[in-house]
Amino acid sequence: CGIVGYIGHQDVKDILVKGLEKLEYRGYDSAGIAILNNEGLHIYKEQGRIAALREVIDWEQGASLGIGHTRWATHGKPSRRNSHPHTSTSGRFTVVHNGVIENYQELKEHDLSHVAFASDTDTEVIAHLMEHFVENGLRIEEAFRQVLLTIKGSYAIALLDSQDEDTIYVGKNKSPLLIGLGQDFHVIASDAMAMLSLTNQFVELMDEEMVILRRDNKTILNLHGDIMQRRPFQVKLDASDMEKGLYPHYMLKEIDEQPLVIRKVISKYQDSEGSIRIDAGLRNRLNEADRIYIMACGTSYHAGLVGKQLLEKIAGIPVETHIASEFLYNRPILSSKPFFIFISQSGETADSRGVLVTIKQLQYPTLTITNVPGSTLSREADYTLLTYAGPEIAVASTKAYTAQIAVLAILAFDVMRERERAPHVNPFHELSIAANAMEIMINKKEMMEEIVWQYLNASRNCFFIGRGVDYYVSLEGALKLKEISYIQAEGFAGGELKHGTIALIEEGTPAIAILTQAHVRANMRSNVQEIKARGAHVCTISMEGLEESEDHMVLPVVHELLTPLVSVIPLQLIAYYAAKYRGCDIDKPRNLAKSVTVE
Ligand code: G6P
Repeated sequence: CGIVGYIGHQDVKDILVKGLEKLEYRGYDSAGIAILNNEGLHIYKEQGRIAALREVIDWEQGASLGIGHTRWATHGKPSRRNSHPHTSTSGRFTVVHNGVIENYQELKEHDLSHVAFASDTDTEVIAHLMEHFVENGLRIEEAFRQVLLTIKGSYAIALLDSQDEDTIYVGKNKSPLLIGLGQDFHVIASDAMAMLSLTNQFVELMDEEMVILRRDNKTILNLHGDIMQRRPFQVKLDASDMEKGLYPHYMLKEIDEQPLVIRKVISKYQDSEGSIRIDAGLRNRLNEADRIYIMACGTSYHAGLVGKQLLEKIAGIPVETHIASEFLYNRPILSSKPFFIFISQSGETADSRGVLVTIKQLQYPTLTITNVPGSTLSREADYTLLTYAGPEIAVASTKAYTAQIAVLAILAFDVMRERERAPHVNPFHELSIAANAMEIMINKKEMMEEIVWQYLNASRNCFFIGRGVDYYVSLEGALKLKEISYIQAEGFAGGELKHGTIALIEEGTPAIAILTQAHVRANMRSNVQEIKARGAHVCTISMEGLEESEDHMVLPVVHELLTPLVSVIPLQLIAYYAAKYRGCDIDKPRNLAKSVTVE
């Protein structure tokens, strides 16, 4: 979910709606705004996209403060009734919220047992609690503080009091939230991007803080009531990076940008002498480490699997890659000098942050590899390496994945150098070769369209197989296809298929085989034969030098550990065209959100 707010002198509706459009990547089940003027409070909400919300707004109604929300449903299915804002029974308090109130059932049954709830959401308790405390005699500010002390879980909250046209109450815990500063106005946003057209000056809020926000001043308080001082920071983002130009979809634009992104990563991490530019403190901490633990989710997890190969094979340091949401349940016995790497495009994923908070308590060194400077995971880790991919808008991640791999490769080469492991390889040279190879593959879009036509046109499922690092890429290929085309897809280790899943192969089942590693060639070729013999319709993507005449696509040669940068390109494009043929909403696939700030 994402929230926005504005208090100033301009008309607020357009500001809120445009802000929400920029936050749509965070969820798009439903959306709503609440605005306040001297006639009182006006709430507009609708199920579906922001475009649907636009239809129901009374554009004649003027107001200069308001709050808004775009939803990714957690509690209560997507519907108008469950969309935010939510209001207390008397209509006095209205709230938008991103996060999860863990004790909402308990609150409903005890403190709020007298209340008739109008939705199935956890959020609604906030508005009713506020009213409850005010009815019990607390001043508004104090009541709000009590609400934040009573609710448990994660929240970014903006609350309006319909009797006060001069204040918005804001609260934050675990969910991201920024306050933007302007001349006689303030804005609230889950992501600075939403309000960049108004200001690039923001202050960040810490967990368990609240803000009393007025047009010309703001007071940040902790939950003990102490006033907190905070310096603003400037967000450096070019608004034009966020436009898709002539491209039909952001995803296609972002796929095309990948060679450029890799070249940008090279330029950012190479110093004038051609050496790797990495913080000396980070370098030292990494060199002291006896084991690296990588935490990530989704596509970033797949980059983490490739990262394990890179760091182990290049730098010679043992690495474990974990799904962040599982790590704390199956916490491995840690080595004596562990080092933690968090990989996250958004830098906001709650599952990854949950681990980071625990690891920080244990005082182990931490690094975040992220695309978003100033994001929560970046701020909270000891070190940050940026991926410089530029804003990634399509929900399905593409350029962030390849940029993460490039940064991990540079890091691996850096550690290798420090540990004086031979042989000497120039990472920047190898990455530029990979960038050129990516470009070659990107220019073969018709081939991918043709493959989709031949293999995936009418199919319900698809298998991706590979061995070694190709297996990790096959997981990513399958994820891309699932996410945007809704074709059931699975990535498998070539050798594992015969231990069970091969039972699903029947006449015409599509399978995509990836082969970029010489040492797995013979075995991989047998795996392809095994499934072909059972009727699978196999499309093979191999690297030059390993190809056979019937292969469908041959990838240019790159360093054997950088092949994922190239082999993933056809898989991204296959997913893209499969989704396109099926008429799917490519940039905003159903049920998904780009940045998931709930655990
Ligand atoms: C969401 C997105 C995925 C993404 C994952 C991790 O589920 O839909 O595309 O890979 O979060 O996101 P992160 O920002 O941490 O890389």
